[in-house]
Amino acid sequence: MNYLAFNGSPRKGWNTETVLKYSMEGAASQGFHTELIHLYDYDYKGCRSCFACKLKDGKSYGRCAIKDDLTAILNKIETADAIVIGSPIYFGDVTGAVRAFMERLLFPYLVYDNMYSTLFPKKLPVGLIYTMNVTQEKLEAVGYKQQVTRMEQIFERILGPSKSLYITDTYQFANYSHYVVTSFNEEKKAKRKKEEFPKDCQKAFDLGVSLAVQTHTVNP
Ligand SMILES: Cc1cc2nc3c(=O)[nH]c(=O)nc-3n(C[C@H](O)[C@H](O)[C@H](O)COP(=O)(O)O)c2cc1C
Repeated sequence: MNYLAFNGSPRKGWNTETVLKYSMEGAASQGFHTELIHLYDYDYKGCRSCFACKLKDGKSYGRCAIKDDLTAILNKIETADAIVIGSPIYFGDVTGAVRAFMERLLFPYLVYDNMYSTLFPKKLPVGLIYTMNVTQEKLEAVGYKQQVTRMEQIFERILGPSKSLYITDTYQFANYSHYVVTSFNEEKKAKRKKEEFPKDCQKAFDLGVSLAVQTHTVNP
């Protein structure tokens, strides 16, 4: 059983990667083999709207025709048993790398029929983890949750049962005093990092467990 984790942050070792690794530990506790893929290590762009994936009798029907660093990763996802995608929130949405990844991954499987059905060959449990600066209280007020809930619905429709986890009020700089930042209080951020972030990591671990467990029930 394979669990693939995608880091959609350009920063290695920071919030997004940290929580992804906890989710991987959760999946590993259920006997899964886990792998972390840093999207920013790969050279690729988003969908080019060539529609080769929708061409009648086309050789790329249902597949992305673009050949680049993402090709092998997209193939690998078909052999995975669960995946998790982690993204920082940039201007209220996922990072550009995640957006481009999502377009390339999902659009080829989407059929333009009345049902908008899917060509993905099985049900794949999907975890979506978002890390961000805003507090839990502001998460809904600023509209991020509504925005990324749409992502969850698209993943659910095309790949399989999808769950989101929101990690708020993250610690952003190794040393706040080196940067021009007056909108955040370093002490408050440090307190949250110490007291609440470990709980976020536990939630990510639990997400990994639940995705792994779900694998056994979605494809009977
Ligand atoms: C270009 C950019 C845009 C950002 N936009 C937002 C935003 O709109 N809302 C927010 O809450 N945080 C925003 N952030 C903060 C990051 O989402 C947050 O620090 C995140 O946890 C970083 O993840 P990382 O530590 O894995 O890199 C932004 C950061 C950057 C660099």
